[in-house]
Amino acid sequence: MRKLSRCNNIHDLRSMAQRKLPSPMFHYIDGGADDEWTLRRNTEAFDEYELQPNYLTDIETIDLKTKVLGLELELPFFLAPTGMSRLFHHEKEYGVAKAAAEFGTLYTLSTVATTSIEDIAAVSDAPKMFQIYILKDRELTREFVQRCKDAEYQALCLTVDTPLAGNRERDLVTGMSMPPRFGLKSLWSFATHPYWAMNLALHPDFRLANVAHRVDALADQDMGLAEYVNSQFDRTVSWKDAEWLAQQWDGPLVIKGLQTVADAKRAVDIGAAGIMVSNHGGRQLDAVPAAIDCIGPIADAVADQLDIICDGGIRRGTHIIKALAMGAKACSIGRPYLYGLAAAGQAGVERAISLLKSEVERSLALLGCRKIDELERRHVRPRLDKI
Ligand code: FNR
Ligand code: LAC
Repeated sequence: MRKLSRCNNIHDLRSMAQRKLPSPMFHYIDGGADDEWTLRRNTEAFDEYELQPNYLTDIETIDLKTKVLGLELELPFFLAPTGMSRLFHHEKEYGVAKAAAEFGTLYTLSTVATTSIEDIAAVSDAPKMFQIYILKDRELTREFVQRCKDAEYQALCLTVDTPLAGNRERDLVTGMSMPPRFGLKSLWSFATHPYWAMNLALHPDFRLANVAHRVDALADQDMGLAEYVNSQFDRTVSWKDAEWLAQQWDGPLVIKGLQTVADAKRAVDIGAAGIMVSNHGGRQLDAVPAAIDCIGPIADAVADQLDIICDGGIRRGTHIIKALAMGAKACSIGRPYLYGLAAAGQAGVERAISLLKSEVERSLALLGCRKIDELERRHVRPRLDKI
């Protein structure tokens, strides 16, 4: 606990996570695709923008309340879906969902989570979204929709940037593949992180909880779970399927993983309530632009028709402020809370959220704004020394 309180920013939480985790797990979180250009760019591109404060504006009270997807959140950022939290801490998705609820923000549960839709609903009555991959097994998608309705999830999120897995070369080096192929160096890393290894032995509850039952339903009984998931990526998924999903689910649908104005307009056409402008944290197609660089043009085209969420590279409160000033309604974070989870379970996730919250609060005040919806394009501009 002492160490957690000495983490002054997300970077410190990342260092603590690196100390706590065996290297295959750390690099699975931290890494990206190919040369990791997009991964680096996601964060570095925020430096291409500068803030424009106004002073003497009476900022006695600061309010971070944000309305997005028809939900009232206490914060202008929420938690993006991430798979397999059990690999990082035994409090897994429970710890993350409870931390989100503690701060009054939205938690997104992944298709490949290690906790079920229903079990998360049982521990959190805060807003929840479920992230869907449309897999070859379409019956499973229908089932997800029904289960989310029954468990009273407020929103669905369809991830579209993963018709196949990205090339994560750090995972090839560490052996963090499906199935795992750990080499000597990785095995040594497990041996030198006995707390993590002992913990896994004490809580051996690693299961892809939302899809495991479908493996049993398949004709080929010899198929393992990992093989099942790999074999289930469906390259034929198209806008027709997205439209079908929007009709099945009569609540807000978010399309996650779009980067262009053309695709944002198609999302409007199928009736999406929002889009997560995202490149999957640089884990899928490398060489695409940083999420923040896509926000301006997309906001100009569709901000009045759906909610834009900026996802990827956010490590500071000022990053969130820049994205909102550019036209995003809210932001979402992935690695920042996973570093927290790996560092200290739920308490670590809470530390990550609370650090970003106080950074946003302070920076908003210093910028001369009292409320999130006072943020406008005039508060941000491209770096003057670069043009
Ligand atoms: C992800 N992400 C992700 N996205 C998704 O739609 N379904 C998923 O199961 C996962 N799983 C996943 C695992 C891990 C370990 C990471 C780091 C990311 C992507 C995630 O939702 C989000 O788009 C990025 O994490 C955002 O970038 P930052 O905040 O990590 O820079
Ligand atoms: C990832 C998958 C789970 O990014 O979406 O690792």
